[in-house]
Amino acid sequence: MNQATGKLITGGETIDFELSRSALQARRNVKWNQYEADVLPAFVAEMDFAVAAPIQTAIERIVRDGDYGYPQRDGKRVDAAVAAAFIARMKTHYGWDVSPDLVVPISDLVQGTFAPILAFSDPGDGVILQTPNYPPFREAITTTERRLISLPMRDDGTRHVFDFGELAPAACKDARIFVLCNPQNPTGRVFRRDELLAIARFVIEHDLIVVSDEIHSDLVYAGHRHIPFASLGPDVAARTVTLNSATKSFNIPGLRCAVLAFGSDALRARFHKRIPARLLGGCNIIGVDATVAAWMESQPWLDAVMAHLTKARDLVTEVLRTEVSDVRFHVPEATYLAWLDCRAIKQTGSAFQFFHDQARIAFSAGETFDPACAGFVRLNFATSMPILREILDRVVGSVKQTA
Ligand SMILES: Cc1ncc(COP(=O)(O)O)c(C=O)c1O
Repeated sequence: MNQATGKLITGGETIDFELSRSALQARRNVKWNQYEADVLPAFVAEMDFAVAAPIQTAIERIVRDGDYGYPQRDGKRVDAAVAAAFIARMKTHYGWDVSPDLVVPISDLVQGTFAPILAFSDPGDGVILQTPNYPPFREAITTTERRLISLPMRDDGTRHVFDFGELAPAACKDARIFVLCNPQNPTGRVFRRDELLAIARFVIEHDLIVVSDEIHSDLVYAGHRHIPFASLGPDVAARTVTLNSATKSFNIPGLRCAVLAFGSDALRARFHKRIPARLLGGCNIIGVDATVAAWMESQPWLDAVMAHLTKARDLVTEVLRTEVSDVRFHVPEATYLAWLDCRAIKQTGSAFQFFHDQARIAFSAGETFDPACAGFVRLNFATSMPILREILDRVVGSVKQTA
């Protein structure tokens, strides 16, 4: 890393981790435009870094050539290119074999959550969700008139854990689906094999379909390992729809390209009885080429990003642990998100509002992840070190003022 410029050169590629605040504000994204100019954004899950060179090159090629017709890649439909890149990545990174016939490219993972809920359950049926959790899961359950069955993630003092003993058998009677988010947003947990096996036993016993969102799988820190849920075995795969994309780890969420991977032919056939393939729409060619470039050519960029995120995560840990004991949290095992328990701060109203008003920081509001979590916020630390230091200084200053 060149300390003077904040740029890191890897494999001939320069990665800029220190984009200035004005450069970031010039972007036309939600992150830097939703709040007033003096508010530092630390909410929506995207990173303040330039994308990998292979992704930029792939996009520029399409634009340079004005190549906007119905696309084909290597003599096949573009769906096959996305599926092949996904299959190759799952094999090399996780040792998981996925059949090309079972991969369905779609535009985004929220769509990919709604579709299996509609396909595998009916209004009134129960859907189990670990809470707190990524807000659109709750939306996917409630707006489709399914019944949300909450499986709480409890803080055991070292990490967030869950216990099926907390689910009353009567509450699970009409359950049809288990929505799994692994790595988990917002707690940053990477579920261990024994935890995943406990989920597997439960879903088999209750005959549930699993919708497994693994979008954060490439953002796992040293010492932890992502295990695709469907890779646990054929009986688990046969009831699992895996969702993934390159958009979170390679910072291309605006490009709208993701995959659904079914664990068996029968599951896919059952899905399409209710959701015809045509209803899902196709991927945009820019998203397709960017995704293929991300998964197939951009690992050096991701390695460098993970090194930066590790340092950022360690800075968050050091500052919060030494300066503000009223903000509790567990070091995330994956993701660039930290789930901050701010209930000990003397304040009125939500933690989100407190930091917005007193520190001029926009975190993600805890209550959107679980209505009972207004005392929490989610911090996105995927930014430059100077901006992160300023966010942390503001947190420390505002909390100390309440003491
Ligand atoms: C767990 C999880 N799933 C899905 C998404 C969004 O995916 P998409 O933009 O493809 O809908 C996010 C974004 O932060 C997320 O954290």
